[in-house]
Amino acid sequence: MSAPSLIIRPAVAADVSGICDLVNGFAARNLMLPRTPQQVHHVLGDFMVVAEEERIVGCGYLARLRAGLVEIRSLAIAESLQGQGIGGELLERLVDAARRRDMRQVCALTLAPEFFLRHGFRRVDRWAISPKIWGECVYCPKFHACDEIAVLRELTP
Ligand SMILES: CC(C)(COP(=O)(O)OP(=O)(O)OC[C@H]1O[C@@H](n2cnc3c(N)ncnc32)[C@H](O)[C@@H]1OP(=O)(O)O)[C@@H](O)C(=O)NCCC(=O)NCCS
Repeated sequence: MSAPSLIIRPAVAADVSGICDLVNGFAARNLMLPRTPQQVHHVLGDFMVVAEEERIVGCGYLARLRAGLVEIRSLAIAESLQGQGIGGELLERLVDAARRRDMRQVCALTLAPEFFLRHGFRRVDRWAISPKIWGECVYCPKFHACDEIAVLRELTP
């Protein structure tokens, strides 16, 4: 990790409010979807965080969409620490976790496609990740005017 005081680790219950603060700060600017503490608790075992002692400065989690396909959600790095490669390291840790779960593909819906393209993802039609569309996007207020871009990375074993 570029900054020695930072560690990337699986999330624990004490991280929930820090994760919500981080994600909901970006959600308030329409950069990502908001998450409630209940939602985060529900998928806590799938979350990784970047921690600076007690403070959560990065997060992201894996959501299984169908056999072999997993989505990266709620990926965020605190603004003051962006552009130092921390998001890239966290992304690779999530990809490793997906590989360990025998996933063959990792996808994301994002407003920051260039970040993912640098990490081996390619742009795809959003219907390539259709379980996401039917499971979550149809409930989104932006469904008919979605500005997010679907990206996908094939995993080698
Ligand atoms: C996207 C994000 C996680 C990247 O984290 P990071 O720690 O800054 O990532 P890295 O330092 O590893 O890589 C940064 C690179 O990604 C690019 N990038 C980051 N956000 C971008 C965006 N919205 N659009 C285009 N490029 C972006 C930066 O330009 C930078 O490229 P550079 O090194 O050539 O300048 C972080 O910017 C973030 O939290 N953004 C707000 C939330 C968000 O948009 N999440 C997207 C996931 S759905």
